[in-house]
Amino acid sequence: MKVFILGSGGREHAFAWKIAQSPLCSALFVAPGNAGTATVANNVAIEATDFEKLADFIVKNEIELVVVGPEAPLVAGFVDFIREQPALDKVRVVGPSKAGAMLEGSKDFAKRFMMRYGIPTAAYRSFDSRNLEEGIAYLATQQAPYVLKADGLASGKGVLIIDELLEAQAALRQMITGAKFGAASQTVVVEQFLQGIELSVFVLTDGKNYRLLPAAKDYKRVGEGDTGLNTGGMGAVSPVPFANEVFLQKVEERIVQPTLTGLQQEGIDYVGFIFIGLMNVEGNPYVIEYNVRMGDPETEVVIPRIKSDFLELLDAASRRQLATAQFEIDSRTATTVMLVSGGYPEAFQTGKVISGLDQLEQVIAFHAGTKQQGAQLVTAGGRVIALTALADTMPQALQLSYRAAETIAYEGKYYRRDIGQDLLHLVTG
Ligand code: AMP
Ligand code: GLY
Repeated sequence: MKVFILGSGGREHAFAWKIAQSPLCSALFVAPGNAGTATVANNVAIEATDFEKLADFIVKNEIELVVVGPEAPLVAGFVDFIREQPALDKVRVVGPSKAGAMLEGSKDFAKRFMMRYGIPTAAYRSFDSRNLEEGIAYLATQQAPYVLKADGLASGKGVLIIDELLEAQAALRQMITGAKFGAASQTVVVEQFLQGIELSVFVLTDGKNYRLLPAAKDYKRVGEGDTGLNTGGMGAVSPVPFANEVFLQKVEERIVQPTLTGLQQEGIDYVGFIFIGLMNVEGNPYVIEYNVRMGDPETEVVIPRIKSDFLELLDAASRRQLATAQFEIDSRTATTVMLVSGGYPEAFQTGKVISGLDQLEQVIAFHAGTKQQGAQLVTAGGRVIALTALADTMPQALQLSYRAAETIAYEGKYYRRDIGQDLLHLVTG
């Protein structure tokens, strides 16, 4: 099978690494990819949102299966675009249509969807320029902290959590009339603050059947002890110790199944991943957000725990035969530590020479922002490399990830030293 992955981060390197191991894979391409994907696949210099060029490449290279990594092409309608091309009618895609991608593309849509199907989530109201003053008054009736979310895609930066009422009211005004997040904040969701521990659950669906992939917890803030600015993610662990069978059963019954029922009832054909960001509130799951793709760096701990053939699984999903696909999970723990560029998520430098990769032992180095420059590997993004280890216990896996984090060197290297620390009291060994 000729496979084409769209995207360029650690998530896509993890996909490529796993798919390349499949005996079903006869050719593997990644657009645009990074220096890591180039070691297991062929990089193609096309942006993941350049639909015309992607379509052209798919035809010329007789691609059979496309796996979409990031949300941007999905929200922009990549799947619908492919479906409209007669030359591409045999191409199968893992990723939802534009209508399905609305679950991530519009928080207001996602909230209304959850309300329609009784899916547990924080109480909310939506505001725009027409009812802004009502929103200001509404905030005054709510308790701190105030949660304000830009409706549209804002590169993971569109959520504000504010302690002071006056500040929250000013922020609401700024989001709506001051276009704080551009068009994304023309509509703002104001929701109840949920107190609990977060985790992510991943679902692969063929529109009817589904498989629950391993759950993971990521570490979003740049600083230790969950302080500082939000990032794309500084590390992750899987499994999540508090997500036991009883909890995951609730997730399936109260969230996953009604979500799929809802999609079907609305006539939304959904083949792909659903990433459900959850808050565990005293043992009960509430949806914080839907994403229509896998998480990054969560993928870097989820994929290494899939023992069976991942390409077979994706292929089955795209053929709507997920019910019969092989699926086996490794019971061991995976941890990943993300090395980033100094300054990230604010301004940072790139082009720094990376060394030490050849000395790594018992870890998988998933590249995020890297580039080959002649004979040298250099940094090319805020998040640089995710170091994943798999071991019988979480402390053992963390030790391997951290030993690798010390081994790799480049100017400005930074990483959080407390990945998984908050969970250690829940695990033995
Ligand atoms: P999101 O972009 O929707 O994932 O939100 C970013 C982060 O804000 C989440 O990972 C949570 O840590 C936090 N957050 C979002 N919504 C809520 C909520 N209703 N209650 C508490 N924290 C929240
Ligand atoms: N790590 C969070 C995300 O991928 O959105």
